[in-house]
Amino acid sequence: MHGALKTFPPATTPTPAPSPYRPPAPIPHAKPLGLVGLIATLKRNTLECFAQEHFEKPIVVTGLPHKRLPFKRVLLVHEPAAIRRVLLDNAGNYQKDPIQRRVLSAGLGDGLLSAEREQWRTQRRTVAPVFARKTIMDFAPAMMAAADALTERWRSKDGATVDAAAEMSRVTLEVLERTIFSDGLGRDKEEFRSAMATYFNTIGEVGLLDVLGVPPAVPRLSHWHVRSTLRFFAAAIDEIVAMRRRRLSGGSGDKANDILTLLLGALDPETGEQMTEAEARSNILTFISAGHETTANTITWSLFLLSQSPEWRARIAAEAAREIGGPTAGLADRLVETRAVIDEAVRLYPPIAAISRVADGPDELAGEDVKRGTMVVIATYVLHRHQLYWRDPNAFDPSRFLGNAKNEIDRYVYIPFGAGIRTCIGSAFALQEATLILAAIMKNFDVQLAPGTAVWPQLGVTLRPAGGLPLIVTATH
Ligand code: HEM
Repeated sequence: MHGALKTFPPATTPTPAPSPYRPPAPIPHAKPLGLVGLIATLKRNTLECFAQEHFEKPIVVTGLPHKRLPFKRVLLVHEPAAIRRVLLDNAGNYQKDPIQRRVLSAGLGDGLLSAEREQWRTQRRTVAPVFARKTIMDFAPAMMAAADALTERWRSKDGATVDAAAEMSRVTLEVLERTIFSDGLGRDKEEFRSAMATYFNTIGEVGLLDVLGVPPAVPRLSHWHVRSTLRFFAAAIDEIVAMRRRRLSGGSGDKANDILTLLLGALDPETGEQMTEAEARSNILTFISAGHETTANTITWSLFLLSQSPEWRARIAAEAAREIGGPTAGLADRLVETRAVIDEAVRLYPPIAAISRVADGPDELAGEDVKRGTMVVIATYVLHRHQLYWRDPNAFDPSRFLGNAKNEIDRYVYIPFGAGIRTCIGSAFALQEATLILAAIMKNFDVQLAPGTAVWPQLGVTLRPAGGLPLIVTATH
């Protein structure tokens, strides 16, 4: 078996594949960082904060040694039963932490990602059918069309170096355009795209003020820069929604089959009520921001890993050649090996690399006391490379996700999309999209890392290759 282990085996007898490839990752510190080192590293690259014990122990208690800090007790929880308790069985006791909420909701209002309690429950119930499997499958042609536009563009650059990270950002935004606003953004695409980039690069920074718990009323310098960007977004979305409402009420039966139509028509199954205008706007912005970079990073990391593995490049190209061209219905389900590469890419480089919560009241996790206000961090990145649960955790081996090996992976050891009540609502959408786009690329191109490139994972809001991913793309036919 190459995959994850269900129980706690003695981590002594791995049988690694011959010369496995272990992609770049920070070497964990021998000892946990002190407060000053921690703050400096958080600012530079959160991924470089972790110590060896995080990857070896099921739970690590960190006491931040300052009484003015918002979280005096932080538990890093990497034990499947405890993770299940936080995210599912006792989820009512754990709210999203204020730092994450501030970062997530800054400018977005309270959409599904950042809302809590009754507001969240109502929205989740209402939005669920929009992301049902059948609906997602109907989006496959739109996803393929965006993939085709990408491969067309790359053909004109045959043999050249492209920044795959920027290109994936472009194609995933195009998928969102085609699936959310299928009749267009009504604005300059480039303006929308660059507004998106500004938003992510600034609002998403967790600054020193956030770490120190300075109240949100104190303005963050970085946030000033994005005010006009946020105004631009809000105006753009409001305009699109108003246009669509007019179209839907026109009675011509001409309604675009996209997420916007579904969202505007969605009714809370318990009350029969529609979302308010503000909730619809917040959720559209939420889908764009939650679904854009995350999916782009997923395909970018998959391309990087393939660029390092001639064996898997050949396997994926062969599978794509075999399957693409047949019916689009069910295509993503037939691209089994492509999907395994994606599963492995988000294991090694989970785009959302940590999930955190704050306890409302007392509890016990893996033998440790939880008090009101304790912060619980489940570092997906650490969990996915944990010595207790994975054989050769740092090796790239997509076969962990093929056949029976995949079924043996514990639900709470592999959580790229979270788990429990707040699990990602867009996971089926993202996986289908990433699978189709990766296969379309590999069917048409060979990808090689540009010589002299040192790829390094950097964790801001999402985990991405620092400075992009320069790939030489060569058409194979
Ligand atoms: C590879 C791509 C993606 C990854 C890795 C990802 C990851 C995650 C994770 C880890 C969470 C849970 C956060 C927590 O529990 O604190 C989450 C929630 C969420 N995601 Fe995704 N996501 C992806 C794509 C998408 C897409 C495409 C959409 C929508 C179009 C989306 C919309 C959401 C929403 C709305 C939530 C909040 C759900 C709730 O709280 O009820 N995500 N995502």
